[in-house]
Amino acid sequence: MGTCLLAGCGYTGVRLARRLIPRRPVVALVRSAASAAALAAAGIPARAADLDGPGAVEVPPDLAAVVYLAPPPATGEADPRLRRFLDSLAEARPEVLVYLSTTGVYGDTGGRPVDEASPTPPAEASSRRRLAAEGLVSAWCGARGLRCVILRVAGIYGPHRLPLERLRAGEPVVNPEGSGPGNRIHVDDLVAVCEAALDRAVSGVVNVADGDHRSIGAFLELVARLAGLPAPRRVTLEEARHELSPGMLAFLLASREVLNRRLVEDLGVRLRYADPEAGVRESLREMGLISSAAR
Ligand SMILES: NC(=O)c1ccc[n+]([C@@H]2O[C@H](COP(=O)([O-])OP(=O)(O)OC[C@H]3O[C@@H](n4cnc5c(N)ncnc54)[C@H](OP(=O)(O)O)[C@@H]3O)[C@@H](O)[C@H]2O)c1
Repeated sequence: MGTCLLAGCGYTGVRLARRLIPRRPVVALVRSAASAAALAAAGIPARAADLDGPGAVEVPPDLAAVVYLAPPPATGEADPRLRRFLDSLAEARPEVLVYLSTTGVYGDTGGRPVDEASPTPPAEASSRRRLAAEGLVSAWCGARGLRCVILRVAGIYGPHRLPLERLRAGEPVVNPEGSGPGNRIHVDDLVAVCEAALDRAVSGVVNVADGDHRSIGAFLELVARLAGLPAPRRVTLEEARHELSPGMLAFLLASREVLNRRLVEDLGVRLRYADPEAGVRESLREMGLISSAAR
């Protein structure tokens, strides 16, 4: 098997690299030399190249697959970072390109369900950048006849990615009656989805969420209970308007129910953590915060 390039090898990329390395060559691309050195020390071959700068990306000569996990820049309407990456691939012809997008592109549906065919109203600038990136990557693959999978990923959680600081800081949660559905995915299930997207003859957009739609507040309460922290204080929506930053409030209020039928049926992924209670417990165990005997 040819090399799989992981462009943007951070939280998700490292766990994906660990899964792929026993069965195929992998090269990770990160922005900083420090990240590349840390990956190399952990046994993951890595190269540093800042996609925001003019430097070229060294492309493995036997490139067979790409998983692109770097986010777009924080400003602007497009994703020049991705553009530079694709330009640097030049004549390389990977068999498949998997692009990690977000379910944020569906905007706020007021809690209504969304599947891959649902409209993507480009409300926020960050969603417009994501949609521009999705368009760019599918056009690039389309022009070359390459398989392209766009994963629209919900909130990623897992070991060392739990809202423990928020809970310890005593931030309130909005009453479940005042909040809409939430959507998440455990990082190891996301990794399994990336592997399936590389291996299976599937293309197009696939939503990545665990199918559990409890609200953000209910998820925080779950994490607090399992981590042995005090339950967060519940406030009404009106109270939250005074207590939370406008950014956090907008994030909490944007709601949709992300459907994952394609992930289960077309990609054939069996979610290990369809129940977030199991996912949070396993995350806390990996962090050494609860014992393996904890139920
Ligand atoms: N967090 C969520 O809940 C969530 C939800 C949906 C989708 N997503 C998206 O899923 C993807 C993976 O998420 P993640 O949390 O695993 O990402 P992450 O931990 O933030 O890692 C991002 C990686 O991209 C690299 N990168 C960033 N800017 C770069 C640049 N200019 N040039 C080269 N490399 C660059 C970083 O390199 P350095 O380490 O050197 O900085 C890092 O390795 C991202 O696109 C993210 O936006 C995240």
